[in-house]
Amino acid sequence: MARITAGVATSHVPAIGRAIDTDQTQADYWKPMFDGFEFSRKWEESEKPDVVFLVYNDHATAFSLDFIPTFAIGVAEDYAVADEGFGPRPVPAVEGHADLAWHIASSVIQQDFDLTVVNKMDVDHGLTVPLSLMFGQPEKWPCKVIPFAVNVVQYPVPSGRRCYNLGKAIRKAIDSFSEDLNVQIWGTGGMSHQLQGPRAGLINQPWDKAFLSDMVDNVARLVSIPPEDYIREAGSEGIELVMWLIMRGALDDQVTELHRHYHVPASNTAIGHLILKNGNNS
Ligand code: DHB
Ligand code: FE
Repeated sequence: MARITAGVATSHVPAIGRAIDTDQTQADYWKPMFDGFEFSRKWEESEKPDVVFLVYNDHATAFSLDFIPTFAIGVAEDYAVADEGFGPRPVPAVEGHADLAWHIASSVIQQDFDLTVVNKMDVDHGLTVPLSLMFGQPEKWPCKVIPFAVNVVQYPVPSGRRCYNLGKAIRKAIDSFSEDLNVQIWGTGGMSHQLQGPRAGLINQPWDKAFLSDMVDNVARLVSIPPEDYIREAGSEGIELVMWLIMRGALDDQVTELHRHYHVPASNTAIGHLILKNGNNS
């Protein structure tokens, strides 16, 4: 049977992709940020997941503001790397897992979550930057990826509670897939940041640090945070953190924290990163 072995949370700032692609990771500004992912890349080399179920948001790249689904699952065999204005990032194309994705779509829709099914989609920095942080610069990504896009761009956005419960439905779906697969679930985006308006540049370190801790052992507090609290406390783009709750919902109630990293600043964003292993012993 397929099984979810671990959850990963990580921010997805485009400037991180640029720093990797232009060989700046050892520069003074970037080194402390990238150092926090060294453990993670080594860990992935030994974990060797077959599939990553990658929860991210599209930044008006594949979807425009003309048309934006709340939850969209990619069921394609592959995904091209998007051109976000400066040409596509020089990273490998993303290989999908169509059979598992269709199985998850069927199961989750029958569990009463309405998903948009996507057969063709280019993937932006929300998806490729986390892959680079966790896998480095391989010629080919070491596993298949199921992209799962969440609308955190056009209001109204889904609540943290709905995201968490959706994670539980995704868990049930993956657990019922007959092929023997090591699946990881990643929640990306965040932490506090605001890219626009008078509060542009907002970072809230105490709020972020409490969020990181409660991802491990007090998720009940996090699922009750309403969207307006994210915006007030973590900035307009801090709402991306609801995607971490999909990942958390798909894990056991009890998890073991394997790794934590927090760094400010990276571009306009507070970088947060967690690796959580299912169960209370590693
Ligand atoms: C930045 C962060 C994001 O999450 C994003 O999608 C775009 C830009 C930034 O900090 O520059
Ligand atoms: Fe973003």
